[in-house]
Amino acid sequence: MDKYILAIDQGTTSTRAIIFDQESNLIAIAQKELTMLYPHPGWVEQSANELWASVVSVISEVLAKANLKAGNIAAIGITNQRETTILWEKQSGLPIDHAIVWQSKQSDHYVQKLKEQGLEGWIQKKSGLRLDPYFSASKIRFLLDKHHLQKEAEEGKILFGTVDSFLVWKLTGGKCHISDVSNASRTMLMNLETLDYDDELLELWQIPRAMLPKICDTSAVYGYSDPSLFGEPIAIGAVAGDQQAALFGQTCFEKGMIKNTYGTGCFLLMNTKEQIIHSQNGLISSVGWKIKEEVDYVLEGSVFVAGAAVQWLRDGLKIIDDAAQSEVKATSIKSSEGVYVVPAFSGLGAPYWKPQVKGAIFGMNRGTKQAHLIRATLEALAYQTYDVVAAMQRDSGISLERLQVDGGASRNRFLMQFQSDILNCVVERSFISETTALGAAYLAGLAVGYWKDKEAIRANFKVGASYVPQMSEEERKESLAGWEKAIRSAMYFES
Ligand code: G3P
Repeated sequence: MDKYILAIDQGTTSTRAIIFDQESNLIAIAQKELTMLYPHPGWVEQSANELWASVVSVISEVLAKANLKAGNIAAIGITNQRETTILWEKQSGLPIDHAIVWQSKQSDHYVQKLKEQGLEGWIQKKSGLRLDPYFSASKIRFLLDKHHLQKEAEEGKILFGTVDSFLVWKLTGGKCHISDVSNASRTMLMNLETLDYDDELLELWQIPRAMLPKICDTSAVYGYSDPSLFGEPIAIGAVAGDQQAALFGQTCFEKGMIKNTYGTGCFLLMNTKEQIIHSQNGLISSVGWKIKEEVDYVLEGSVFVAGAAVQWLRDGLKIIDDAAQSEVKATSIKSSEGVYVVPAFSGLGAPYWKPQVKGAIFGMNRGTKQAHLIRATLEALAYQTYDVVAAMQRDSGISLERLQVDGGASRNRFLMQFQSDILNCVVERSFISETTALGAAYLAGLAVGYWKDKEAIRANFKVGASYVPQMSEEERKESLAGWEKAIRSAMYFES
């Protein structure tokens, strides 16, 4: 019987199931959009039940589309929006509240308190992370306090999981409560060196071990899906945070290789192999993956709003009908004529870390048209990436020769050319835009011997499109100077 790998990409705005064959060809895809809930300004939530239901429905749909049965699937690989926090009852499997999404700021007051105590550096040394409501720890604390569940959590009656963990729990009918190192490294509870929960961090956040998932390798068979779900049990062979999975899907296996994914946000990751780089420039360190005894660390710059800014043009301002139109409108004019959009809709992430900063538009005049706003919004994605790359070069001493890109907005040719111009380096889009799912598929395939090793995977990689810099040095410097003024002004306004 022919065998395939099934990847689940549970992202912030949609859930996808994709079937791949051994040559990395995409055989079939099913997708479901998700509801975002904004109960208060700055709060972002989702129904955990909807996330789970979307996974079951896309798996069934993709199997039907490919005319395959569960028995044709060698393994499932799960990749997911990271940090998003779910608490559920062990007994019933029912979530106790909505999932608190990674972008959400409702737990900021816990973070501010620890900042006042001067604990930022100490926390970053242990966890690799900036003290920010982005990560799971303060979100868990918020939910435990909101529902008065400390005692139940200590007794192991209430469980915590990032989305991967919740999905594995559900898929295995409550048999496995696990997570992997890449996801656990985003909770702010894991020690980057020991790859285990850190007792002092647990003590600081008052989070009991009894509620936490076991931390596992990124590529391993953790369990099997409950036969009642898809007819036959399927091996679950990988769990990886989506950005780390994309790095794997881009086959960035060597030290210094960098990828940028233009999703809801923009996530730039550099593989630093066995080295943990403690950033001096506003970046964070996490685990890329652990496969058998080999651990690859990453240096990351997380920009909170990228594709979400294009959605804002479409759904908020209603000046484009779809994302593809942003390219047409942006190229209908010669330049943004000094207009800068700072899309800080969820505060500023790397390398600034200012959760309270709001979005801003600078440089408009009476002649400013929709096209200028659209072009300036796309340009902002490239400028934000530039800021992170600059920080990454300072931290690692490695200069960027080539940026590998993926994600929805990497299909925007205007943006990719502008990105290459602003970075003054080659930008290469992968042959497949679903690199995140492909990475999860590779990791699951490795666990069950579908692919022999990383070399076999690397052999499948192809470049989809390549962009080389064309902008003059003078124009590049001038454009960057304008961006710097805009972002500083946005921060000043909030201070
Ligand atoms: O850290 C958040 C990130 O994992 C979300 O990714 O692709 O769902 O926007 P995405």
